[in-house]
Amino acid sequence: MNWLELSGKTALITGAASGIGLAIARAFLGAGSAVEMLDCNPDVANVAKRLAEETGGRTGAHIADVRDYSSLERVCANLKESARSIDILVPNAGVNVRMPLIELGNEQVDKIIETNLTGVIATMQIFGPMLFGREGASVVITSSAAAMHGMLLRAVYSATKAGTSGLTRSAAMEWGPQGVRVNAVAPGIIRTPLTQAYMNQFPKREIAAQKQVPLGRVGTPEEVADVVIMLAGRPTRFMTGQTLFIDGGLTAGTSWW
Ligand code: NAI
Repeated sequence: MNWLELSGKTALITGAASGIGLAIARAFLGAGSAVEMLDCNPDVANVAKRLAEETGGRTGAHIADVRDYSSLERVCANLKESARSIDILVPNAGVNVRMPLIELGNEQVDKIIETNLTGVIATMQIFGPMLFGREGASVVITSSAAAMHGMLLRAVYSATKAGTSGLTRSAAMEWGPQGVRVNAVAPGIIRTPLTQAYMNQFPKREIAAQKQVPLGRVGTPEEVADVVIMLAGRPTRFMTGQTLFIDGGLTAGTSWW
């Protein structure tokens, strides 16, 4: 993994206690980076401890809610007080509610937007300046195939993910001169706690999903994490403002014709 040149760097990952975020943390550790794992689930402390034991790497844990600006500011202040800096930022925390648009209540709409879009913006506003001027600094946002591929029962979710892809392009313009690249990954259907419950409830949906994916299966969190570390590493040093789809070909085309 030396070709990535991530050894000795530190990555802060939000939504790191589970699923894709946890796989991203593990991948950075495998590439020789340290990780700061942020999650609203207090279990993040145990998860980070176990990961450090498993990999021999350095992990920090931070309990914070990306919807709460002051809780993110507190994490930033703690990092600065303990003279810890970050080189890579991965705003990954996200939620989804599958429901027809007109049935979504205000609270549900607010939760999806505040976590998936405002939460990503806040994460970048608060931690982004720590990256300015650092060698190989980079942001990798977790968007979704839903950013460009319409999906039933996910209208607000899709809107937030399309928002993060726009944010990626414009922040890349602003932060390029500071030496910070900004890219996004857009996973398709990935088996994580977020999707597993749905697949368990509707097993036919998983079979239908496999039929829509040219590679014929749902993805794994590790397959997303591998692309995240590539986007954070040296091989992509001239790439910024891009959203890469990791979806087994789901968004490449349609098979009905
Ligand atoms: P997950 O539910 O397994 O993990 C999400 C993590 O984020 C959890 O640990 C949760 O506690 C944390 N989190 C949720 N709200 C938070 C908040 N307000 N503040 C801090 N932490 C918070 O979900 P998964 O599947 O790993 O999703 C991760 C990201 O990937 C999300 O942004 C999701 O939208 C995106 N994604 C997932 C896909 C999938 O098929 N699983 C497909 C496309 C995108």
